[in-house]
Amino acid sequence: MTSRPRPAALAAAVVLAAASLTACADQSGSAPAAANTVETATSEVEVFTWWASGSEKVGLDALVDELGARHPHVRFVDAAVAGGAGSAAKDLLQSRLQANDPPDTFQVHAGAELWDYVEAGQIEDVAHLYVQLGLRDAFPDELVERLLVDGKIYSIPANIHRANVVWANPGVLAAAGLDPAAAYPTVEDWLAAFEAVEAAGRTPLAVATTWTQVHLLETILLAELGPEAYVGLWDGTTDWASAEVTAALETFERVMSFTNSDRDGLDWPDATQRVMDGEAAFTVMGDWAAVAFTEAGKVEGTDFTYFPVPGTHGVFDFLADSFTLPVGAPNPEGARAWLEVVGSVEGQVEFNLAKGSIPARVDIDPTLFSPYQQTAISSFTEDTIVPSLAHGAATRIAWLNAISDATSRFTTGGSDLETFQADLVAAAG
Ligand code: GAL
Repeated sequence: MTSRPRPAALAAAVVLAAASLTACADQSGSAPAAANTVETATSEVEVFTWWASGSEKVGLDALVDELGARHPHVRFVDAAVAGGAGSAAKDLLQSRLQANDPPDTFQVHAGAELWDYVEAGQIEDVAHLYVQLGLRDAFPDELVERLLVDGKIYSIPANIHRANVVWANPGVLAAAGLDPAAAYPTVEDWLAAFEAVEAAGRTPLAVATTWTQVHLLETILLAELGPEAYVGLWDGTTDWASAEVTAALETFERVMSFTNSDRDGLDWPDATQRVMDGEAAFTVMGDWAAVAFTEAGKVEGTDFTYFPVPGTHGVFDFLADSFTLPVGAPNPEGARAWLEVVGSVEGQVEFNLAKGSIPARVDIDPTLFSPYQQTAISSFTEDTIVPSLAHGAATRIAWLNAISDATSRFTTGGSDLETFQADLVAAAG
């Protein structure tokens, strides 16, 4: 598959941009143009996301409130398109961009997902905003590296999410004769617990539509191959046709056999709800699920527990939401106001408290956040970081789409394991 654009030395782009902006300012005797823009009563910002409802909308609302507080003259226009992981939003966004009808800013994942927009010339380098807003030192190198393409930086991150988390219902586990506090070192151990839950008449593992199955697949690949070989799947050093991948796919097949059969008609909040309601014991979902539990009044420890997907302890399967400045944005000053809010300390505190993720900024007091978030903050600094497949960090959109099609074909009975693997080999090009 297409290779990653040349990684630049971290920060070099931003430092260079700072130097050239300073030079411009010195010559003209004034600050860079974007810093001089005036928000008028008619300013607005059309913000394109997939945070259309439920706990995700609560997160978006927190940013909107902060926009209102910092930029009262900028009117927020909500262009959210429902569908977890941008499953419907990304196609629609692409149509708008191709029709030269960009929103003022849009949500994009840090990592390979950005490259397509950059190569299509659809988003602007925002290094000048990093300089004006003093953002470069606010974010960890690990994250900034995934925002750089050929030495330029194209978005401002709002958060960091962890994908490899199991959410469990302790009551369902106890009713199945299992210790709710048990740790499952391997997927094999976890499969034994699935048997017990199934025997007790509950769904062992709740999943939803294709993208959540791909999300599950990535965590099983990670568990079975280990972080190094998992990363190798995306940089070409792990062979998709290998016996190790076959074995991991066999494990995925067994895991899938313990999931709800109505999965394809559901999205992630429905699968999470099944765990909340005691219909299912476990679900694998990113840590945006934490807020779905707490918003529903569920109490951590009593009503729900969480742990890394078995076999992935010590690994942080990473993704980050960020926002862009599209080429030809109708209201660049509104977009600038939004990006300023997204990158600010206050914006990141309010947004992440509401969203369940952790701040992208490293200068925020961890004790402001929930016990779960505090575990994620320490894991992000201590664990091995790997990029999420289902959430744009590991691959370009076309590769993810090909993997999603292959996964759907397999889980709906349209292909056997051998064909599934062959499809994945073909997807890797
Ligand atoms: C991810 C996104 C998260 C969350 C999730 C479910 O792709 O990064 O913020 O929205 O999808 O929709």
